[in-house]
Amino acid sequence: MKTILITGSSGLVGKAIQQVVAEQNKEQYKYAYITSKDADLTDISETRQLFEKYKPSYVIHLAACVGGLYKNMNCKVEMLEKNMLMNFNIVKCAHDFKVEKLIACLSTCIFPDNTTYPINEEMLHNGPPHHSNDAYAYAKRMLEIQCNAYRENFGDNFICIIPTNIYGPNDNFNLEDGHVIPSLIHKCYLAKKNDKPFIVRGTGSPLRQFIYSEDLAKLILWVLENSNEKSLILSVSEKDEVTIGHMATRIAKEFDYENSIQFDTSFSDGQYKKTADNSKLIELLKDDKFNFTNVEEGIKKTVKWFIENYENARI
Ligand SMILES: NC(=O)c1ccc[n+]([C@@H]2O[C@H](COP(=O)([O-])OP(=O)(O)OC[C@H]3O[C@@H](n4cnc5c(N)ncnc54)[C@H](OP(=O)(O)O)[C@@H]3O)[C@@H](O)[C@H]2O)c1
Repeated sequence: MKTILITGSSGLVGKAIQQVVAEQNKEQYKYAYITSKDADLTDISETRQLFEKYKPSYVIHLAACVGGLYKNMNCKVEMLEKNMLMNFNIVKCAHDFKVEKLIACLSTCIFPDNTTYPINEEMLHNGPPHHSNDAYAYAKRMLEIQCNAYRENFGDNFICIIPTNIYGPNDNFNLEDGHVIPSLIHKCYLAKKNDKPFIVRGTGSPLRQFIYSEDLAKLILWVLENSNEKSLILSVSEKDEVTIGHMATRIAKEFDYENSIQFDTSFSDGQYKKTADNSKLIELLKDDKFNFTNVEEGIKKTVKWFIENYENARI
């Protein structure tokens, strides 16, 4: 039986993969769900030991040093160095241990700041990323360069997937470090509990495409079995792009929060939009019908999960 090694298994996407695997009853594989307790992937010898132990045929590399706008701005050295090290070690070991297929995870937020929209898979290196997340972005861009180098020189089937903003249960709900949706959920929870205004950082006008974590998990498992494209945007369509203000209103509705929502414009908005074109994905999916979770449903499930798991959530 072939083994799929999944790094970052304790994270937002890793947990969603575990849930989808359990639901889909995919018993034809063995799964090695890896967290930093199994190996520090910034360390090459620990990473090698991991590959020696599991001898994976497939690797889904999700582990990363990840965060929202403010973590990206305040922890540039950590974002650059940890991601470069982890990615370098995983790709090198995937080659050395003759992994049949590696899926490595990029992000639409690493694309050029000044660009035309929508962005597609070919446009990653057409200009510098937004200054706010340049350290994270260049580390991730190097992951793509490394995967392509192995693909071109050795024929390795190393694939880069490119998700948009992700949200769902098991996210990092920390007020400073988290991405926009989990941070807003936590803030609204506190505002409701303490009868205080719900304060959203920035103007609320930036546009984002949000993908529900379980949808992304299903797509990643689909890519593993069905696609060998060297890079693929995994996203809801352009018409499902929404403002951060809209998401804040949805979140407030789920909490039955009726006090005021205030926008603190002294905080940065980050990049105004990153509209991604998912037409290559839709074309490849063709006959495999895929229904994306709409934001109303996704926010409902995520808020419910956060309330029920508050004690153990990453806050
Ligand atoms: N979240 C988003 O909106 C978003 C958007 C686009 C792309 N992505 C990409 O999607 C992937 C998954 O993101 P996520 O949101 O699921 O991340 P996450 O929730 O922050 O989880 C990060 C995972 O990485 C592991 N990890 C961190 N440092 C490690 C180390 N030194 N050694 C081993 N494991 C380490 C963590 O393990 P421990 O729990 O043991 O520390 C955890 O399992 C990442 O590649 C990210 O760049 C995320």
